[in-house]
Parts: sequence; structure tokens; C-alpha cells
Amino acid sequence: MISTPISRGQRIAIDPLDKARKIEGHWQQRVIAEMNDYQFKVARLEGDFIWHRHADTDETFIVLEGELRIDFRDGAMHLRAGEIGIVPKGVEHKPYAAREVKIMLIEPRGVVNTGEEHNERTAPNDLWI
Ligand code: NI
Repeated sequence: MISTPISRGQRIAIDPLDKARKIEGHWQQRVIAEMNDYQFKVARLEGDFIWHRHADTDETFIVLEGELRIDFRDGAMHLRAGEIGIVPKGVEHKPYAAREVKIMLIEPRGVVNTGEEHNERTAPNDLWI
């Protein structure tokens, strides 16, 4: 289900977990809200992503349900539901979830999920749910 953007000033409560549950399939990202030039996006992840980096921006992960591991070349960060992790710009990382995890991402509009890499995991941007 794809919905239209929520315009500024609409007094609508947004439930990120409920939105994430409506996404069909894994590794898709859907926008649920915008603030200035930033987007709040949700996704369902399972399995391994690819190594990538974002040259121009940090990336914020908030786990809504489940557990997420973010691998770095020199270690890993483990996030549980309710926890926030920030990947600094330019740092290589690879999300991994042994079982399905539902997450919210906060990043500037236009960030490509696979960074400078483009492959079958590259998801379209600006799709709202
Ligand atoms: Ni990333």
C-alpha cells in the first residue's frame, strides 16, 4: 500500500511500527513523515545487506521491533527495540538481522539506501506509506 505524503500542518499521529507492518517484503523503505529536509522512513529487514557508505550524511537507525546488528569493518553495533544507533557519514557499514527487524531511519531526503553501490538491494526513494 502506497499513500500520499502527509502535508505539513496536518495534525495526524503517525505510528511507525504500524506503518512498518504494512510494508510488503524486506529491504524496502517507505517514508512516513518529513521534517525540514529530513525524512523518517520505516523498513522491515531480514538477513544480510551489502557493505556501503553514505558520503554526505550520517544515518540514524531506530529499532521498533526485533534486533538489528550493524557491522563495521572494525566491529559491530547491536540495537534492540527502542534503541538508536547513528552511523557517521563516510563510514562503511552493513546492517544484518538474523530474524526480521522493523526499523525507522532518519536521514536527509534523497539518500540512497545502498550509498554509492547500486545493486538488487537498491530501493526506490520517496515512496510513502
Ligand atoms: Ni546505510
